Amino acid sequence: MTDFKTNFAGLTLRNPIIVSSSGLTNSADKNKKLAEAGAGAIVLKSLFEEQILIETDQMLTDAASYMEGTDYLQEYVRHHKLNEYLELIKSSKAVCQDVPIIASINCYSDSEWIDFAKQIEEAGADAIEVNILALQTDINYVYGSFEQRHVDILKHIKKTVKLPVIMKLGNSFTNPVALINQLYANGADAVVLFNRFYQPDIDIIKMKHAAGPILSSSNELPNSLRWIGIASAVVDKIDYAASGGVQSPQDVVKTLLAGASAVQVCSIIYKKSDTEIRKMLTFLGTWMQDNGFERINQFKGRLNHKNVKNANYFERTQFLKYFSANK
Ligand SMILES: Cc1cc2nc3c(=O)[nH]c(=O)nc-3n(C[C@H](O)[C@H](O)[C@H](O)COP(=O)(O)O)c2cc1C
Repeated sequence: MTDFKTNFAGLTLRNPIIVSSSGLTNSADKNKKLAEAGAGAIVLKSLFEEQILIETDQMLTDAASYMEGTDYLQEYVRHHKLNEYLELIKSSKAVCQDVPIIASINCYSDSEWIDFAKQIEEAGADAIEVNILALQTDINYVYGSFEQRHVDILKHIKKTVKLPVIMKLGNSFTNPVALINQLYANGADAVVLFNRFYQPDIDIIKMKHAAGPILSSSNELPNSLRWIGIASAVVDKIDYAASGGVQSPQDVVKTLLAGASAVQVCSIIYKKSDTEIRKMLTFLGTWMQDNGFERINQFKGRLNHKNVKNANYFERTQFLKYFSANK
């Protein structure tokens, strides 16, 4: 008997395939279908701090003749957006039964609006995922301050709720291991490696800026494999989910072997459909049987940094062989 159950962020998932935060998860109807398609958990579309601020600005511009103060309007937008989000949590919980619903907040500042996490908890979310994705481009940037912001926001949320907190990290930290260790020390239950930045491009015909690929490709997976392989060996009390380029059923097995407890999928479902979830699970079941495994714990992390002695695969940075003179 193959058992797909996995523990992630203090939750028991029926299987390790999590649908990640995106437009795929922004309504209860969509989430019901994802649960029926086999998802092990669902991360709701993020509520963006920026969204609240921009909408307030927009309303102030559109209705300049109204004399409401910014504070009042901000409070109104916040209340409205937050209520919509709470409704999404409640309606998704009602139709997804045994599939955990993870709320997602995008915040950039450690501001009081994070107190909204309390209402997320009361609305019945099973966990909160926090996404602080941002580029640091300020010439006066103080090294380490962005990492510290992660810790500060996490502490604030942990003070506010008892729910498991999952930190979804961007992929451009100098040393994700040290950050993950700090997040673990401050109460994070899991980390997701990694969120994906918007990809810029340039159209040379029109000589204009253009958007790069919105959806990922499997070329992006090695970065998650590397850092999960290294970090799960060192900071081994926190759970990991791989995100970014998980496209094939084989990719799921790879990330579990590297040390992940779960994977998050997004682009592959946009490109194909939610039937990919079953394909992943069928492949995982066959692979486990072929290799004599009944439970994920029996092989999770088998190829992480700790378990592969004398082979520095994950830390290798140069393709020495390929850079030699005759290649
Ligand atoms: C259209 C779209 C919308 C997304 N919206 C969010 C979001 O609201 N919050 C978030 O944390 N990530 C968001 N993401 C990022 C995904 O959750 C995921 O981390 C990223 O796409 C990498 O995974 P993938 O390779 O499986 O696509 C979005 C991605 C796409 C393509």
